[in-house]
Amino acid sequence: MGALYALLSKAWQRARKFLARFSSFYSDKEVYLLDRNPLESSRLNAQHKFLVDLIGGSPIHPSIPTENITAVADIATGTGIWLFTLPAALPTTNTLYLHGFDISSAQFPNQTDLKSTHEFHLSIQDIRTRFPPEHRNRYDIIHLRLLAGALKQEDYPRAMQNIYELLKPGGYLQWDDGDTSVFDTAEDPRSPLAVRMQNIISSAVVKLGMCPDAPTLIEHLAREVGFEDTVRYSYTTLDRPYLHDAARTWLVEVLRSLLPKSMVGSGEVADEKTAVDRAESLVGEFEGHCKDILPVVNWHVVVARK
Ligand SMILES: C[S@@+](CC[C@H](N)C(=O)[O-])C[C@H]1O[C@@H](n2cnc3c(N)ncnc32)[C@H](O)[C@@H]1O
Repeated sequence: MGALYALLSKAWQRARKFLARFSSFYSDKEVYLLDRNPLESSRLNAQHKFLVDLIGGSPIHPSIPTENITAVADIATGTGIWLFTLPAALPTTNTLYLHGFDISSAQFPNQTDLKSTHEFHLSIQDIRTRFPPEHRNRYDIIHLRLLAGALKQEDYPRAMQNIYELLKPGGYLQWDDGDTSVFDTAEDPRSPLAVRMQNIISSAVVKLGMCPDAPTLIEHLAREVGFEDTVRYSYTTLDRPYLHDAARTWLVEVLRSLLPKSMVGSGEVADEKTAVDRAESLVGEFEGHCKDILPVVNWHVVVARK
């Protein structure tokens, strides 16, 4: 009896050690480069139209068939703006089941604002953790946008596996994101100011273990996990004059949001208060510079079918 107890106790201790390692991996500290305050929520909502125009005018990529869509999930949904504009973009008169997931509910809209004939849900869910069984094989489309400033490179394989499980066979993945050349300027040579901004962000991305070329990694992992017909579509505002003003506004606002935490993350500045002041002065200078040059936004969408 004593020997059995000792054996069980040893096994339990081993299991606890293993579980502790496992849970500390997934409760890994966040590396999110943005805030989650009301100002940032307004910026996310304001940029939505520009990001949709950039990929052709509909929240759903034109390569994805829209007939027969009934269930859609938006992961890392933020304010839920993509999901809430979706019904108007779909030809169906079906009642839709729409579910937004995010690691934080801080930017979820007030539930009382959600007046719709469709079924809307919002849940707290970390993309790095397996989703509850009721969500597996449930969705026709899984959408994600702008996680490059939130995930470590090592998080992507697990995230892709979790997404794959959520789709019905034949369902589509659409992941819109940028690499570190998402902000650019059409100057030759590029001004030291533009180079400095890009260097701050690239350096933070590398130091924090994030992925400098998320769209290429997403495309690769989609194939690896078993998706079919994986295609990475690339977009630029450079040759689309009707998007030049919106690109200028987007760039200035996104830099204002991204630079403070990137300055701290890159080790350039020790505290966030100093970083906010320094970022504001850099962005102000860049805003003036943008009146004389052409700011460029480069963007990618990975589409794949389960
Ligand atoms: C830049 S916002 C984009 C929001 C939304 N996708 C959009 O395009 O408007 C990134 C979002 O990712 C969420 N996020 C960060 N890490 C996450 C994780 N591990 N799992 C799920 N969501 C996460 C953040 O809370 C934030 O809402």
